[in-house]
Amino acid sequence: MLDEPTMTGTNGGAQFFDALGDVQSDSLLALIAMANADPRPDKIDVGVGVYRDGVGNTPILRAVKAAEKLLWETQQTKSYIGGFGDKRYTELLRPIVLGRHADDKRIAGLHTPGGCGALSLGFKLIATAHPGSKVLVGTPTWPNHIPVVQAAGLNIAEYGFYDRLETRIRFDEMIAAFNAAQQGDVVLLHGCCHNPTGADLSLDQWREVVDVVERRGLIPLVDIAYQGLGRGFAEDAAGLHLLLDACDEVVIAQSCDKNFGVYRDRVGSLFLKTAQADQTKRAMDHAVQIAREMWSMPPDHGAAAVRIVLDTPELRADWDAEVGEMRARINRIRGQIAAADPRMAYIGGQFGMFSMLPISRDQVLQLREKNAIYMADSGRFNVIGMSDDAVDRFIAAIVEAMNG
Ligand code: LMR
Repeated sequence: MLDEPTMTGTNGGAQFFDALGDVQSDSLLALIAMANADPRPDKIDVGVGVYRDGVGNTPILRAVKAAEKLLWETQQTKSYIGGFGDKRYTELLRPIVLGRHADDKRIAGLHTPGGCGALSLGFKLIATAHPGSKVLVGTPTWPNHIPVVQAAGLNIAEYGFYDRLETRIRFDEMIAAFNAAQQGDVVLLHGCCHNPTGADLSLDQWREVVDVVERRGLIPLVDIAYQGLGRGFAEDAAGLHLLLDACDEVVIAQSCDKNFGVYRDRVGSLFLKTAQADQTKRAMDHAVQIAREMWSMPPDHGAAAVRIVLDTPELRADWDAEVGEMRARINRIRGQIAAADPRMAYIGGQFGMFSMLPISRDQVLQLREKNAIYMADSGRFNVIGMSDDAVDRFIAAIVEAMNG
């Protein structure tokens, strides 16, 4: 007979993993599960940030599907490609992400698993160079930003970025926080399509931000996960390009997950600019080593599909058109919501997938229970999470909630 399994561990009699308390779960992940579990057929899931078309599907882009077919037909091996991942992929991203800085030898790129992988790697690289650095984070921000920064062992200093009830950027507070920061402090900036507010800095505001970042010797880390889905590729990176004009040291966490619609394939990149090409090379060697410890080598498939799209003129043109279609749908629905009620007019002047409604958490929960409308507790909703025929119903429910 086998011995009964012992319940006594090495930890003074308690079971080892009992030491773990309840997890502070990312509310967005919980929301996906809740919306999926709701059996009501007319539910509206405007929680997580995925693009949905007029009938509510998240399609695989035509260009990506064609590239995957080509990949399937031509790929000869699935042997390792190394710590840098797909080098041609990052090379092809350069003109899109870096614009006029694409040929700058002081900037190097590395393929990462999604934008989140790029963020983790960027912050860990910062922590390797300067352990315990302070990172200024404007709130509200993407719920995973703060855990990722903390997991890298860095310290957070929050400042108020956006006033949800007044629906405006707290720009003076942002500038005051940057002015009070110390040389070498890191500032986390959203390149475009601010997540969760949709409130993007104007070009004039970017100029002021760049000025203070450069003057105070701060290190900008730009999270650019929605390029092309706001105003256009060049426009969405205009602030980033101003930073690159002015600053010797810039970290960029980029994602293709949204603008190529390859969410689950996890396709991103980290770009780093330092003052000298050899310094950048040394720093990137560290980045590869850190990546080796975390994921060893990035997943290939999604980045290979993106590479084929960008390397094939017809597919590239089709992808541009598809991103244009996505952007047009986002901005059309924004216009529709903005026109419905003066209290939502601000949504027409915001960009990307998200805006935040000036409603309370209780109202958010009520919308979930009564109307089967799923949005983040913060009032963040995905503007294009709903199908065309759900928009009027969504607007009516929000207006009712706002009327109390
Ligand atoms: C979102 O904010 O909904 C997306 O970035 C998905 C995610 O990973 O949270």
